[in-house]
Amino acid sequence: MKASDLFVRCLEQEGVEYIFGVPGEENADIMMSLLDSPIEFVVCRHEQGAAFIADIYGRLTGKPGVCLGTLGPGATNLLTGVADANMDRAPLIVLTGQGSTSRLHKESHQAMDVVSMFRPVVKWTTTIANADTIPEIIRKAFHLAQTEKPGAVHIELSEDIAKHRSLVSPLVVASTSQPEPNAGEIAKAAELLRSAEFPLILAGNGVLRARATDQLVALCEATGMPVANTFMGKGAIPQSHPNCLYTVGLSARDVVTLAIEEADVVLAIGYDLVEYHPKLWNRGRPKQVISIDALAAEVDAHFAPVVDIPGDITKSLEHLLSVIGDEVLVNREQFASYRETMQQEFEQYADDTGFPVKPQRILSDVRKALGPDDILLSDVGAHKMWIGRYYQCEGPNTCMISNGFCSMGFALPGAIGAKLSFPDRKALAICGDGGFMMNVQELETAVRLKLPMVILIWTDSQYGLIRWKQEAQFGKNSHIDFENPDFVKLAEAFGAIGKRVESADQLPGILAEALEADGPVVIDCPVNYDENMKLSRRLGEIPAATRSHWLKQTDLFSGCGSDSLEVISSFMEERSYQAGASICEEGVDGSEVFLLVDGEAEVQASGEDQAGPISLGPGACFGEMAILADQPRSATVVAGENGAQTLVLDGGVFREAVLKQPTIGMELLETLSKRLADKTA
Ligand code: CMP
Repeated sequence: MKASDLFVRCLEQEGVEYIFGVPGEENADIMMSLLDSPIEFVVCRHEQGAAFIADIYGRLTGKPGVCLGTLGPGATNLLTGVADANMDRAPLIVLTGQGSTSRLHKESHQAMDVVSMFRPVVKWTTTIANADTIPEIIRKAFHLAQTEKPGAVHIELSEDIAKHRSLVSPLVVASTSQPEPNAGEIAKAAELLRSAEFPLILAGNGVLRARATDQLVALCEATGMPVANTFMGKGAIPQSHPNCLYTVGLSARDVVTLAIEEADVVLAIGYDLVEYHPKLWNRGRPKQVISIDALAAEVDAHFAPVVDIPGDITKSLEHLLSVIGDEVLVNREQFASYRETMQQEFEQYADDTGFPVKPQRILSDVRKALGPDDILLSDVGAHKMWIGRYYQCEGPNTCMISNGFCSMGFALPGAIGAKLSFPDRKALAICGDGGFMMNVQELETAVRLKLPMVILIWTDSQYGLIRWKQEAQFGKNSHIDFENPDFVKLAEAFGAIGKRVESADQLPGILAEALEADGPVVIDCPVNYDENMKLSRRLGEIPAATRSHWLKQTDLFSGCGSDSLEVISSFMEERSYQAGASICEEGVDGSEVFLLVDGEAEVQASGEDQAGPISLGPGACFGEMAILADQPRSATVVAGENGAQTLVLDGGVFREAVLKQPTIGMELLETLSKRLADKTA
C-alpha cells in the first residue's frame, strides 16, 4: 500500500471523523488518499483556526481532534492552537507535511525544523523516517494524546516518504485504564479530612475529563464539604447545588477565595496549577493539601500535598467516600454566606438598562438564553474575567475557556468545533472585538458548513483586558485603542446574519432569535467596561476579613482579638518590593509597620552582637519598634530574592488605634518585649 494510504487507514482505525486544516503542496499525497476515506476533511481559512477547532473537538468528545497544515508557514500557523490544546489538556493530533528528505540538509524552499519547533508545546513530536513505522507511530500518537494528562502530539510526513510503499497494516486500537488509587493514602486523606475544622474541595478540569461529576457530588453530599471550581472546572458540581461555591480564579481576594482562606484542609481534585496559581489561595502556606488527580501532584512551593493520590479520579472519589461514609465534616452554615454573597452579585445588575450594556447584564441574559446543556465558548479578553466569575454551569463541558495558554482568537473556531462535536446543542461564542478579528476568517468556514452558532462580540474598540490590567497597576493606559469595521456589514459580507444591540433591553430578544437561526449569527454588543475597575476596587475592599485572617497568623498580632484585628486591617495598604530593595533602613526615622504577605525579607542589624541577618517569611511583621518606641529604625530590612509583597500600616494610624483601643497595645506587648530583649541581649 502507498504510505499516504496507510497513514489515512491508520487514522480511520483510530476512529477519526474529521481533519481540520489547510492543504499544501507537500502533503498533497495525504489529501489524495483522503478522497477514498470516510474521514471528512474540513477546509479552514487559517491553520490557527483549524487547530482551535480540533482543540475544542478534543476537549468535548474526549477523542483527539486532528488538524493539518503543510510545512514551514503552515506549521508555524498551527503552533498557537496546538500550544493552547496542550496546555489545557485537550487531546490533539497535529499533522504536517515536509519537503523531501533529499533536500532537508540544505537551504531549501519552506524547509525548517518543524519537529523541534513543536517540541516545547506537545507531549511528543516525530517525523516518519520509514513508511513501515506509520502504524506504530500513529497508534503511539493517539495513545499519548489521550492518556492522562492529555495533550498534543505532532507527526510529520515528508513528501517523498508519503509516496513509498509498505506491506504493514494498521495496529489494533487498545484502550488503557487508569491505575487504582492506593488504599493507604485514601485512608490518610480520610483521616486528615475528619480532623479538619473546615475542609473544602477545589475542583479543576481533571474532574470533567474523568467524567467524575457524580462521584464528586456524592462525596460532598455525604460529607457536607463545599466545592469551589476553577475556570475550566465549571460544571464539576451543578451551580444549583447548595454546596457549590462557584468559581475561583479572577482575583486573590474574591468572595470564594475568602472561603478558601478559611479552610484548613483543601482537597484539590483534578486541579491544574496553570489555571489558578496556588500562591493566590495558599499565601503563607498555612493549609494542609490533599491532591486527588490522574498523576502525582506538580511541585510548587505553595502546593505541597501532605497526601498525594494519583490514579483514576472516579475510583479515588468512590474509595474515599466508602472510607468516610456519611460522616458530616462541614455544616452548611460554615459556608452558606459565601454562596449567598455570590448569588446577590449575580443578580445585582441582571436587569440593568444602562447602555453600553454592563457585563453583568449581558451574562445574565446569556445564561437565561442558553439551556443547561448548551455550550458557551469564551475567548480571551476582559469578557473572560467576567465569564469566569459570573457565568455558572449546571453540567460539565458547557463553558469552554482557554485558560492555561489564554489565546485570543480561540472562541469563534471553538464554536465550530463545538457544533461539529454536538450538533444538537447550541453553541455561543463570546469574543471581544480584539479576539474576534484574530480569527474572523473562520466565519466563512462556519457559513460554508451551515453551522447554526452565535458569536456575541463585546465591543469597546480597545484591548480592554490590557487596559484593565494597566490601570490597576499604573493608574493609566498605553496604546490600547483601535477602530472596528461595521460588524453587521462584515457578517453579511461573509453570508452570515449580523445584528447590533442598541439598547440593553433588546439583548434577550436578539439572543433568542439568533439561537434559533439556521446559520451563523454575529451580534455586535457595545459593552460598558467602566465596570472593570469598579470590580477591581470592590474586590480590593473585600480583604478586610482576609487581612484580619493574615494578621492573626503573624507573631506580632496573633495575640490580638478579632475586634483589634478588624481595626488594624482596615487601615492597611498593599505594597510590593523588588528583590534586594530596601524596605526600611537602620537609623532612619520610620513611620510604617509592615506585614509580609508573600516572598521573603531579611533583617540586617549592624552592631557587634548581631549573629547575622534574620530571614523573615510570609506572615512576619516588622517595622513596629520604631513606631512604638518612637526611635529610629533598629535594623535595615531588604526584600529577598523573590521580592516581597507587604501590607503596610501607617504608624500614626497604628499608634492612634493602640491609644483608642488599649487592648491592642496590651495584646502586642508580649511579642514586643521579646523582640526588645533579643535586640539588647
Ligand atoms: P524597626 O526598628 O521599626 O525597623 C526594623 C525592624 O526590624 C524592627 O522594627 C523589627 O520589626 C525588625 N527586627 C529588628 N530586630 C529583630 C529581631 N531580632 N527579630 C525579628 N525582627 C527584628
